[in-house]
Amino acid sequence: MQPRVTTTTLFKMKQEGRKITALTAYDHPFATMVDGAGIDMILVGDSLGMVVQGKATTLPVTMDEMLYHTAMVTRACQRAMVVGDMPFMAYQSSIDAAVDNAGRFLKEADASAVKLEGGADVCEVIHAIARAGIPVQAHIGLTPQSVHQMGGFKVQRDQERLIADALKVQEAGAFSVVLEGIPSDIAATITEKLTIPTIGIGAGADCDGQILVLHDMLGLHDRHLPKFVKQFADLKKLAMEGIASYRDEVRNQTFPGKEHGYK
Ligand code: KIV
Repeated sequence: MQPRVTTTTLFKMKQEGRKITALTAYDHPFATMVDGAGIDMILVGDSLGMVVQGKATTLPVTMDEMLYHTAMVTRACQRAMVVGDMPFMAYQSSIDAAVDNAGRFLKEADASAVKLEGGADVCEVIHAIARAGIPVQAHIGLTPQSVHQMGGFKVQRDQERLIADALKVQEAGAFSVVLEGIPSDIAATITEKLTIPTIGIGAGADCDGQILVLHDMLGLHDRHLPKFVKQFADLKKLAMEGIASYRDEVRNQTFPGKEHGYK
């Protein structure tokens, strides 16, 4: 069995210039495939609100839903580091609540780390969670939980603020930072300035690693895909073909065949 990916593995990969691969997953079958393919990090993202629950934003996702999905994913993983995503309002109301909720990901769902959105504004929270011995991944730039404050899902271009946020979350104790929806040259500058690994999504090729939402890159739905997504497979088409074949064979009585019955 291969050794588990840890924060130390990720630091070493950054130092050695080896790219970190990350994807989201939300259940046991897909996590088995992602882990089996050798992806380094699996984020159980609150994006599940949109791609699994069919909601318009990530805001309604609850802690209990996140724990339910994270536990399914960790049961499937042998090598990948599993990061649980702190949902909206799981860390904003108080530092104590944030530490308690972060701890639940490790105690109840067997995650190895948590992620939360925000820069300078969440540094106290990052510091408190890290001090409790829980690795924290920060997430700056386009932060979907602030969709109403940002006026939509918009690329973030304030270079000075993005660099300051990145440096502050590192100083607060984050082991890594997701850079979402920011110009490639700003992401490259941040990656060069930080000692912790940057994981990009819509942030260009110079980040230390890349992450995509699994259901976007596998073509599992018909929702609008942002410009930064590359669709690597068309699983919805394959599934629809299989389901239609089943429907036809039941209707024309070719399924079940004799070989599917008991004597
Ligand atoms: O929720 C999520 O899937 C995320 C990734 C897009 C980084 O935050």
